[in-house]
Amino acid sequence: MLVILGLLISFLPFLYMIAPYIRKFFAGGVCRTNVQLPGKVVVITGSNTGIGKETARELARRGARVYIACRDTRKGESAASEIRADTKNSQVLVRKLDLSDTKSIRAFAEGFLAEEKQLHILINNAGMMTCPYSKTADGFEAHIGVNHLGHFLLTHLLLERMKESAPARVVNVSSVLHHFGKIHFHDLQAEKNYNPYFAYCHSKLANVLFTRELAKRLQGTGVTTYAVHPGVVHTELTRNSFLISTLWWLFSPFIKSAWEGAQTTLYCTLAEGLEPLSGNYFRDCKRAWMSPKAQNNKTAERLWNVSCELLGIQWK
Ligand SMILES: *[C@@H]1O[C@H](CO)[C@@H](O)[C@H](O)[C@H]1NC(C)=O
Ligand SMILES: *[C@@H]1O[C@H](CO)[C@@H](O)[C@H](O)[C@H]1NC(C)=O
Ligand SMILES: *[C@@H]1O[C@H](CO)[C@@H](O)[C@H](O)[C@H]1NC(C)=O
Repeated sequence: MLVILGLLISFLPFLYMIAPYIRKFFAGGVCRTNVQLPGKVVVITGSNTGIGKETARELARRGARVYIACRDTRKGESAASEIRADTKNSQVLVRKLDLSDTKSIRAFAEGFLAEEKQLHILINNAGMMTCPYSKTADGFEAHIGVNHLGHFLLTHLLLERMKESAPARVVNVSSVLHHFGKIHFHDLQAEKNYNPYFAYCHSKLANVLFTRELAKRLQGTGVTTYAVHPGVVHTELTRNSFLISTLWWLFSPFIKSAWEGAQTTLYCTLAEGLEPLSGNYFRDCKRAWMSPKAQNNKTAERLWNVSCELLGIQWK
């Protein structure tokens, strides 16, 4: 036993030395398309930092008009000015959007629809992870409220404009952790039983289920939709959990950078001919296996119905 432990410990420095190469190997997937986006309009939620910011930067570089939709517009402005300077694209705009408040979501959508006649790409990127129990302005548990219901409403409000602008795409940033998720219809707001790690997994499963249901409903409209696992990435998402921050720090040589984390989202946004795969789930710039729970059509439809009820909306 001790011998094995000793071996392991002496092996560790070596492991750390070769870790960056292992990571490069597994980091998998760089989006290599040359598609340019002049005249295209993009909305990205939560794009003032991390993966969202790198995604915004790349789309701005390709000539799109990019709306950074985030809660903290001061941070948003500093990201935007950095991107403008970096890409020489002045069309990087910041708008206030707080996904934990349906009033803010509606105000954002109203403002956007008034100023833009088109929307070609919507990237539902914002997310929160492992927070202590809290509720949104509308009384939803924060993970399901922000990661799922907030984006559900946003997508709903912007979808007509996207249909008018077709071909258009909705890309949802989910996570491989959706494999650990489960939809508890009897306790959707986790009032009886709350665990911050599982709450995150549940909300990410909801993202995948919705991508599938939405794809079904969008057939023939020219709007397609994709769910993405960005990888294990250095971002501020881990800020709420000491445990996760520590793990991330320990394994940092193995973890993707924000730029690498943005690649699969970019792939689903840009790759040509992806439309027949609408409704699928991607990682490392490839189609990937989703959990059996995510493939359950009944659950997808039921969650869709419940979400509409909770938000008081009706899809045509
Ligand atoms: C993205 O996920 C949100 C939250 O689960 C969902 O409401 C929305 O319909 C999804 N959109 C797409 C295009 O998958
Ligand atoms: C679920 O829906 C998909 C797409 O509409 C369909 O291809 C699949 O056969 C359905 N699965 C089941 C178990 O009904
Ligand atoms: C969802 O709502 C529709 C329309 O109200 C209904 O026909 C369908 O049976 C519901 N599906 C589930 C799984 O509850």
